[in-house]
Amino acid sequence: MLWYQIREYQDADYSAVRTIYSTGFREHVGIVYLLALKQPWIQAMLCGVFLLIHILSGSILTGILGVGGVMLAVRMSVQYIFEQGIQLGLREDLLDIRNSYMQPGNRSCFWVAELKGSIVGTVGILPCVEEPGAWELKRISVKKEFRGRGLAKALCKTAFEFVARHNVKRVVLFTSMVQTDAHKLYESIGFKKEEEFVWPSPPARRINFMCFCFRLETQRLPDMLLQH
Ligand SMILES: CC(C)(COP(=O)(O)OP(=O)(O)OC[C@H]1O[C@@H](n2cnc3c(N)ncnc32)[C@H](O)[C@@H]1OP(=O)(O)O)[C@@H](O)C(=O)NCCC(=O)NCCS
Repeated sequence: MLWYQIREYQDADYSAVRTIYSTGFREHVGIVYLLALKQPWIQAMLCGVFLLIHILSGSILTGILGVGGVMLAVRMSVQYIFEQGIQLGLREDLLDIRNSYMQPGNRSCFWVAELKGSIVGTVGILPCVEEPGAWELKRISVKKEFRGRGLAKALCKTAFEFVARHNVKRVVLFTSMVQTDAHKLYESIGFKKEEEFVWPSPPARRINFMCFCFRLETQRLPDMLLQH
């Protein structure tokens, strides 16, 4: 049994929140790298590099080293794109968490799960820019060593209690094809995957990186809140 407390964000949590977000985001680099390697055009490029170097050098080993070099370059590119994505989040709502989520009278809030004085999980909710009238669940993340113990579900439950108090009709969230643990969490709560689209950036298009919009109509909330 974990003795954690879920409470509203305080300014002293700032660095911990940003670190949990960055670490949770960064852990998907490996999966996206494998996804990139599965793309036919990347496989064709690797074969081409191998053949070219092999023909030019007459050595299989040099050909393999060349392929290794290209694979390393692909890995570094994926890592670079991820770092850009992380920086985007850190410069958006997480740049000034108090201002983004905790203004009095605003229909938004940010919570942390605290365990023995450390922040181990986060979630926020605020009006959705892309979908007026809906609220967006954001920045759900739990430190790796505390996963699988219901922390994320408890954080979501806190956010939904807030939603219920503010008479919000619909909650949406955006996620990507690699955040499969999060999909299970969302489906276990009652969210439905309703839209999918390729992330609108040139590198994401090249590897067919899919994103999803999940939605939950809040008339379903009372049942969900009664489950735990
Ligand atoms: C997604 C994440 C927040 C889940 O945190 P968690 O504390 O482990 O989740 P919980 O223990 O509350 O699990 C809640 C439900 O999610 C599902 N779930 C979560 N992780 C799962 C896994 N690895 N395998 C199977 N089901 C899983 C379960 O159905 C569980 O429901 P149950 O209690 O009825 O079994 C966590 O994996 C994480 O921080 N990931 C990295 C950051 C991230 O990807 N965030 C999502 C951004 S869109």
